[in-house]
Amino acid sequence: MTDAELMKKADAARERAYSPYSRYSVGAALLCSDGTVYTGANIENAAFSPSVCAERVAIFAAVHDGKRDFSSIAISGGKQGETSLACAPCGVCRQVMAEFCGKDFRIIMRSASGIVSTTLGEMLPLAFEKDELK
Ligand code: THU
Repeated sequence: MTDAELMKKADAARERAYSPYSRYSVGAALLCSDGTVYTGANIENAAFSPSVCAERVAIFAAVHDGKRDFSSIAISGGKQGETSLACAPCGVCRQVMAEFCGKDFRIIMRSASGIVSTTLGEMLPLAFEKDELK
């Protein structure tokens, strides 16, 4: 699966966002090491704080399905009805990624120059990780 193909799945997932409050919709497509893909979209709430990001919807669906090994995630986000803009994962989602993904886990985003990728190690240096609790 290419980064562009994974981004297309994130674009499709974005269509299923529920974001009446921010009017900012996000789709995420998570590629597992076994080649399967899980998608998610942001789901907001009138009480605001229960809202959940697209990335966590995808990651939690995969983990609940027994998956633990992930290669990359593509993120597509922007104001509703607008062409998708660069959308970097929030800090909470980076922390959730750190629970299940290694530092080489790739995060694929759009940019002015097209589809780009970086790593979780770059986006969340010095992460607090589960090993700390041993
Ligand atoms: N959001 C995501 O789903 N993922 C991100 O990486 C950034 C933000 C959502 C949360 C909220 O529903 C809306 O975008 C505006 O912050």
